[in-house]
Amino acid sequence: MTRLVVVANRLPLTIRRIGARWQAVRSSGGLVSALDPVLRRGDGIWIGWPGETPDGDAPGRTAELERWERDHGLIAVDIPRHVGRAFYEGYANDTLWPLLHGFPARAVFDPGTFLAYRDANERFAAVLADRVRPDDDLVWIHDYQLMLLPALVREAHPGARIGFFLHVPFPAPEVFRVLPERAAMLEGLLGADVIGFQTHEHLAAFRRTLQQVLGIDSRMDGVDVGGRLVALEARPIGIDPAPWEALARSESVRRRVAELRGTTGRRTIVAVDRLDDTKGIPERLRAFRHFLGTHPEWRGRASLIQVAVPSRERVPRYAALRREVNELVGEINGALGSADWNPVVYLRRSIPQPEIAALYAAADVCWVGSLRDGMNLVAKEYVACQGDGAGVLLLSEFAGAASEMGEALRINPYDEAGTAAALERALAMPEDDRAERQAALLARVRRNSAFAWAERSIADLEGVGRRNGGPSGVLRQPSLPAIRAAFEAAATRGCYLDYDGTLVPIAPRPVDARPGPDLAPVLRSLVAREATTVLIVSGRRASELDAWFGSIDGLWLAAEHGALIRAPGGGTWEPLQPGAVADWKARVRPILEYFLDQAPASAIEEKEYSLAWHYRLVEPEFGDWLAGNVAAALEEQVAGTALSVLRGSKVIEVRFAWATKSEAVARIRAAAGQPAFELAAGDDRTDEDLFEALGEGAWTIKVGSGPTGARTRVATPSAVLALLAALGTVPAG
Ligand code: UDP
Ligand code: G6P
Repeated sequence: MTRLVVVANRLPLTIRRIGARWQAVRSSGGLVSALDPVLRRGDGIWIGWPGETPDGDAPGRTAELERWERDHGLIAVDIPRHVGRAFYEGYANDTLWPLLHGFPARAVFDPGTFLAYRDANERFAAVLADRVRPDDDLVWIHDYQLMLLPALVREAHPGARIGFFLHVPFPAPEVFRVLPERAAMLEGLLGADVIGFQTHEHLAAFRRTLQQVLGIDSRMDGVDVGGRLVALEARPIGIDPAPWEALARSESVRRRVAELRGTTGRRTIVAVDRLDDTKGIPERLRAFRHFLGTHPEWRGRASLIQVAVPSRERVPRYAALRREVNELVGEINGALGSADWNPVVYLRRSIPQPEIAALYAAADVCWVGSLRDGMNLVAKEYVACQGDGAGVLLLSEFAGAASEMGEALRINPYDEAGTAAALERALAMPEDDRAERQAALLARVRRNSAFAWAERSIADLEGVGRRNGGPSGVLRQPSLPAIRAAFEAAATRGCYLDYDGTLVPIAPRPVDARPGPDLAPVLRSLVAREATTVLIVSGRRASELDAWFGSIDGLWLAAEHGALIRAPGGGTWEPLQPGAVADWKARVRPILEYFLDQAPASAIEEKEYSLAWHYRLVEPEFGDWLAGNVAAALEEQVAGTALSVLRGSKVIEVRFAWATKSEAVARIRAAAGQPAFELAAGDDRTDEDLFEALGEGAWTIKVGSGPTGARTRVATPSAVLALLAALGTVPAG
């Protein structure tokens, strides 16, 4: 039976020493608010950090944690104190948190804290290795504290179904790229089958970052990582509205609401935040001061109740924020308050849920002023508690919630005057307008609940996980024993191998993609096998192939995608079409030079029978866009001629239409006969025509990601080399 294994740094309970005893207190924050109801309804388990780790033995604590596991399915991952500090207060909350929220200047970079972060992620992986049943479990990893974990779990359980959800925003690539460990973090995430984000904006930023940091192209809904599909999705998280609605309707909360409203007719504005510098608390206080300054008629008639839940108090930024907020509240109340009216009621503590519900239900306005926020569930809880009421939600456009709560009054929290004006508008809004907005918001909050979010995410994870691991997998890996058996059984055999990206990894500059030390010995032993034709067919120039492979006896070489062929031993290159003259280059070159000036990082390469424009070093989005224009301009130029335009991997090439890899292979077959066993390996579009020409009877291998007509796929050139080495080895006995 499928079991859900939630993995999040924060468990829904936090362990605290209260006097001599260890006790559980409810954890704060949006992640717990959304996930707790989901797990309570199902019967999964939750693996996470229980909070403070003591130095030395704490028997009462162990007993309490054992009870959590027995009664609630909560499994504690203990992290030693010295690691925990650098992991949690350091890398997670002093580096990643500000960076992911788009504040690189607030982020602290310290290589030591990354080591602790990795250590903590490895500790989670070790607990998972013991607990996970890969055939049954859906492993669902949450948030920025555990970004390395998906790949660690994948390593331990290659067939596991792994999801990841990022609760916080994903920033613009130029911000994420600041992170020294950016590549490791992205590779960690790509271990998952599904990566979920709160909004399409975060997802789009992630895709651009993948391209810029790892050079990986993706689609809107997924990315192919060496033949494994990683689905990408935007799934805004929700709340469980029912308990909030029930609380707000309960007798005790209604009594409390009446108390809070009192008899003065004074209006209340509520704000509920963790005391965090992304929440815009000082900005809110200044905007409120501005409001009271520009609208003195509201003095004495409206109060702001600011709940600030203490959070991450050992991180210096949070302590500084606490002081700043204290001062501002003091200043405002001191300057504007009166004996019977405090403009700001400031509650810096954790508040029980019934009291929060009463505040939400009583408030005329809820003010969410995040400078940046993954979602913001306070906005949704307020709407749930308002029920049939007509409260107004002031919502920062920088919170993820803004992308789905269009009926709220949007504010830019950095715009003090604009925010003050929006508050005035909220307080003055006619009731029918308010009620209409609230009803629409409530319908959406109910529909996009935490359960709907979880169901959709889990269904995606089940689907993609099955596709990646199951029998109907996207493209299977070639079976080495089967290929070897076919190779050994055949009287004649042919191996047709692309070079760049197939026998050597792609390098940013083509001159750097030279053969590694293992390649020549592997080719030599393969060529030495009886009745075996080996061809390297590449887009490279003849001179380059000569320099690298000229000394390997018995090897066929084809340069310029097959335009030139060199038979074994002969030493001379023959054109595939004798008499062909590339007299068209003078017409095509000016077009390429025009685009070279547009993108100075691009380069023109001239070969005997073709001209190519390389754009691997051009800024990716611009390069891909410009490549479309280059291709269009060239196609117009060559229409109706014997030429064709070829789009390869970061290269566009004009060459004779007859110069193809399949034609080169046809020439060799004509000379030496068609081998009984044929194998072709390639990574690029030019290899696809060969795969197609060889058909189902051949072993066709696509190297790396992307669409293909090949029968099988491997991830890297080193996998191709291993395969060729096996074929080159004469079987024992
Ligand atoms: N909350 C809490 N304790 C409190 C007050 C509020 O746990 O004393 C909850 C609140 O109900 C909400 C969550 O904390 O569910 C805050 O979530 P949000 O998404 O707004 O922000 P986050 O804390 O995740 O950044
Ligand atoms: C946000 C984060 C969560 C985190 C919560 C509370 O919601 O996205 O991952 O659990 O804040 O923060 P804390 O550091 O106390 O876990």
